[in-house]
Amino acid sequence: MTTPTGAHPEHPFTGGRGRGPLRAGERVQLTDHKSRHHTITLISGERFHTHRGWIEHDDIIGSPEGNVVQSTASMRYLVLRPLLRDVVLSMPRGATVIYPKDSAALVSLLDLTPGDAVLEAGAGSGAMSMSLLRAVGPTGRVHSFERREDFARIAERNVRTFLGGCPNWRLTVGDLNDEYPGCVYPSGAFDGVVYDMLAPWECVATAHHALRPGGVLAVYIATTTQMSRTVECLRDSGQWTEPEASELMLRTWHLEGLAVRPNHRMNGHTGFLVTTRRMADGVTPVRKQTRPAKGAYSDTEQSAPDAG
Ligand SMILES: C[S@@+](CC[C@H](N)C(=O)[O-])C[C@H]1O[C@@H](n2cnc3c(N)ncnc32)[C@H](O)[C@@H]1O
Repeated sequence: MTTPTGAHPEHPFTGGRGRGPLRAGERVQLTDHKSRHHTITLISGERFHTHRGWIEHDDIIGSPEGNVVQSTASMRYLVLRPLLRDVVLSMPRGATVIYPKDSAALVSLLDLTPGDAVLEAGAGSGAMSMSLLRAVGPTGRVHSFERREDFARIAERNVRTFLGGCPNWRLTVGDLNDEYPGCVYPSGAFDGVVYDMLAPWECVATAHHALRPGGVLAVYIATTTQMSRTVECLRDSGQWTEPEASELMLRTWHLEGLAVRPNHRMNGHTGFLVTTRRMADGVTPVRKQTRPAKGAYSDTEQSAPDAG
């Protein structure tokens, strides 16, 4: 089942970026002195109740971003429109989202520019879809596939709530390999393909059909075993450049007076990023000619022509 999510009269495309004074109907983030965030939709006549008093929405509507409002019990709140990364970390989830550090890197690795066409699977909660839609802009297009209907509905709601209606976003519910052929895209219809799924190696042929020669396939993978299987599948097909893998670690810092140091806690692992580029049809990739590390391959593999 395919849903072209379409322009929506109640949700015009905004790209998630409001400007100027805060308006009724907009979502804003209130942050207290302990850095606790509360996201509310501004409605004239409504109140936001805190554990210490309340705030009239009308005291926020019409004020500039970066304002501070006070509850009836003198609690001060900073008022800002949420950024994409705030939304991704706080929005309703079905599937685990790709964290902002990784989605930003994927957009860069995919080398996306406004006007590009991107194929995505699975859409999960829609976090990566949002980054892709922003990167390709209103002149580009994104086609996302999600095999779980319940997750697809969550993704659709999240994307629409933050970005507004997206006539250039198509969301298909179903397995990528089952649904893609029915979309009758010509080979090479996409500039980039991004996978975040359990078994990306099963969808390599689909990515090959979808991508133009030179286009980037980026795969976000949680475990080393999945990464290894994906990379070997790409190499075995002989249709892709040598895959590259990376992992990003983000360490936040504590900044207080002379106590300037890394925070004690961090997300130690999110996922691995694997990228490769589609070769032209009928061309054999150039393989690395370095000597493999001792023990990297078994004795039989060591003698294989591509092993080094
Ligand atoms: C970790 S989630 C994706 C999260 C998403 N990238 C985000 O940032 O919100 C993985 C999703 O892939 C979907 N999936 C797995 N294999 C698939 C396939 N072959 N075709 C379509 N969707 C698939 C799963 O149902 C799941 O929702």
